[in-house]
Amino acid sequence: MREKIILDCDPGHDDAVAIILAVADEKLELLGITTVVGNTSLENATNNALRILNLVGVKDVEVYPGADRPLVRDTVLAPKIHGYSGLEGAEIPEPHKKPSTKHAIDFMAEMIEKHPNEVTIVTTGPLTNFALFALKYPHLVGKIKSHVMMAGGIAFGNVTPVAEFNVFADPEAMSVVLGLDIPKVMAPLDLTHQAVVDHEIVNKIRNLGKEYLKPIADLLEFFIGAYKRYFGIDGAPLHDPCAVMYLIDRDMFEWEEMYVQVELKGELTYGQTVADIWHLGGKDPNLRVLKKIDSKRFFERLLDDLQKIGT
Ligand code: RIB
Ligand code: CA
Repeated sequence: MREKIILDCDPGHDDAVAIILAVADEKLELLGITTVVGNTSLENATNNALRILNLVGVKDVEVYPGADRPLVRDTVLAPKIHGYSGLEGAEIPEPHKKPSTKHAIDFMAEMIEKHPNEVTIVTTGPLTNFALFALKYPHLVGKIKSHVMMAGGIAFGNVTPVAEFNVFADPEAMSVVLGLDIPKVMAPLDLTHQAVVDHEIVNKIRNLGKEYLKPIADLLEFFIGAYKRYFGIDGAPLHDPCAVMYLIDRDMFEWEEMYVQVELKGELTYGQTVADIWHLGGKDPNLRVLKKIDSKRFFERLLDDLQKIGT
């Protein structure tokens, strides 16, 4: 049976690839996309999700807008990496479809009531929507099959030295989510920086010969350039597709169950995910932390899926 998922995202270059993976791979049943403010505004993220679906010719997936601001802190965006629009660097036509008028968290509730214990929430942006869902529908939390998130960093951050963007953009939402008693999987920066897209891989994507992949290749070239300019590294980590790929083929990964908290008060450490890697605090683990990925298998599966659309 295919894994039923809701993809909550903030497209975003890597979110765009995660969307294509979610619609293309036969292991997954994408129930819908929910959008959240993060890399860019909610309006842009929603329009970007619709544009990507339109680009690959997917018409039967709806997009449900969610939160346009974090729970508590001020809004933080990521224009340096993704551009103001959130998908800078490629010509992608405007969508024909409009977003749903149903709120993201009400869609999450509807799907979890309809498919109890079968739905996995995949988040590839700040955790605001998922936290709001849990606060509005506490009686439905126990009916979620699992949660897989691209979030956090164990050894390093990417917005501050210790805080990763999806958590830094709404640390209080991450705190709510970490407290949920459901199976949770985290793909932190320590993992996603093992799945680095470079020019060679982009050329392989271009050579797949699918018209809709040209703008995707352009997006990835922009993303690679942003990582060179901003972090001084060659190649860009494909953060968000790692979270989706876990549900496609978890044999690609190694992991460890850990107790992870999020810092909400530190002047230097606000938004840091603090993992008790030596189990010093005596607390039971609260989530599965992905530690290693077989990047060869990751890119083989990704390239295989990228060319499946429209076949
Ligand atoms: O830190 C990486 C994460 O922040 C990714 O989800 C990227 O899309 C941005 O949202
Ligand atoms: Ca994202």
